[in-house]
Amino acid sequence: MSKITIAIDGFSSTGKSTLAKQLAKALKYIYVDTGAMYRAITLYAMRNGYIGKGDEQIDGLLSDLDKIILKFVYNSDKGFAEMYLNGENIEQEIRTLEVSKHVSRIAELKEVRSKLVVLQQEMGKKKGIVMDGRDIGTVVFPDAELKIFMTASPEKRAYRRYKELLDRGDKVTYEEILENVEKRDYIDSHREFSPLKRAKDAIEFDNSDMGLKEQFERILGYALRIIEKQK
Ligand code: DC
Repeated sequence: MSKITIAIDGFSSTGKSTLAKQLAKALKYIYVDTGAMYRAITLYAMRNGYIGKGDEQIDGLLSDLDKIILKFVYNSDKGFAEMYLNGENIEQEIRTLEVSKHVSRIAELKEVRSKLVVLQQEMGKKKGIVMDGRDIGTVVFPDAELKIFMTASPEKRAYRRYKELLDRGDKVTYEEILENVEKRDYIDSHREFSPLKRAKDAIEFDNSDMGLKEQFERILGYALRIIEKQK
């Protein structure tokens, strides 16, 4: 059966990764969370004092870029690939609010984006991939056979993220999460390089009031029809 590329873009906490994981499982495709890659570089920058401690030192980060080795390693218990930074599993650490506060700044940098886009295109060379992010349908895979663009109200998204962080025991308030969601929306969609925007040929889904199961079934239906036509 021929394989396709599925690009899922949209605002933060719209359920992109949940949907992407479900699609990858149903189709036996590879799933790639590109947000994790931007988060990993952000964590590296924070640990090395390039961001988050007074003055930013972006030049320092840029000169270290070649030293940053990112890998996804499949965890069969969890059923998805976890992010490794220079050999260390950082899957948990990159999900904190601290990393979320700095990641949009790091994702604005042209050099960081170029490095990650090359890695992402390499991972998708053989198709059979579901990739989620902000620029997948516009920059990484402009020829993807299926493009989805996801939105939901900032309040709904902040509430989902708030519950996720509470469930893992992080001490956060709903208000600070909402502020972070709105700030990231603004930076992600106004940055100079590859801003978040809907690709012309992407199908838009507002899931403020749509069940995740219904959404998954509809999108899986689109994917199967495209695959069927390609046979
Ligand atoms: O999907 P996420 O919330 O984990 O992504 C974290 C940040 O990374 C997000 O605020 C913007 C950035 N990002 C990006 O610029 N391009 C991508 N393809 C993926 C994420």
